[in-house]
Amino acid sequence: MGAGVRPHVVAQLAVSVDGATAGFAVDHARFYALATLWQEDVTLIGADTILAQEEALRSAPHPGPRPAGPLLAVVDSRARVREWEALRRVGHWSDVLALYADQTPARSPDSSIAELITGYDRVDLAEALDLLGSRRGAEVVRVESGGTLIAVLLELGLIDELALLVHPVIVGSGGPWTTSRLNLNLSLANAEEFEGGVVWLRYCVSLGRGAQGSSEVGESVGGDG
Ligand SMILES: NC(=O)c1ccc[n+]([C@@H]2O[C@H](COP(=O)([O-])OP(=O)(O)OC[C@H]3O[C@@H](n4cnc5c(N)ncnc54)[C@H](OP(=O)(O)O)[C@@H]3O)[C@@H](O)[C@H]2O)c1
Repeated sequence: MGAGVRPHVVAQLAVSVDGATAGFAVDHARFYALATLWQEDVTLIGADTILAQEEALRSAPHPGPRPAGPLLAVVDSRARVREWEALRRVGHWSDVLALYADQTPARSPDSSIAELITGYDRVDLAEALDLLGSRRGAEVVRVESGGTLIAVLLELGLIDELALLVHPVIVGSGGPWTTSRLNLNLSLANAEEFEGGVVWLRYCVSLGRGAQGSSEVGESVGGDG
């Protein structure tokens, strides 16, 4: 891939019918089986998603890096992630990369974690994606997040594809994964129902923003396919 070419960015989320990303039993086997469709070069993960798993990570088996696996890049402007070595050795990723900003707190002098620094007080997500393309040759980036990072990327126009694994449950707490007032056109690329009533919805995110009003979004979903 040539320098400066931004990778294709897909965001994958497991959600309830009311849009929650936590508080229900996620069909992880299905979620990660579907994730393999993209064969991403980079898995981009929000720091809070990693922090939610740090305790489990410490006690998980650590077979070592998987050379054929994607690179794990974590957006971590505040240097909150500690378990980098465990992430590197957990057996999913080939290596790990910390995405930091200029103002990220000082790291331990003996840290051997590769860093990519963009932005002043927060990671500049557009620049980070550009650099993942130009320096790391990434063509496909898959984003995993409870919604916060995905919503920010969507607001910045940096998501090309949104894939939701909708679980037949209403959680009733925690709120939806995005409360953004952003109005975007989506076109349905694929819909599939699985055992247990779990539904897979894949949308292309069009570059142009939708007009105000939900009817316009409703009309465009499933329009062009
Ligand atoms: N259902 C699912 O599919 C799913 C998937 C993953 C996780 N989860 C659950 O979701 C929860 C965690 O997800 P979350 O949504 O709270 O957080 P998250 O998306 O994992 O993390 C938030 C990320 O957004 C970054 N960020 C926020 N605003 C930004 C900005 N303006 N510019 C640059 N970066 C920005 C933060 O960076 P800094 O803080 O480093 O600045 C942080 O890395 C956990 O409970 C986890 O178990 C669910």
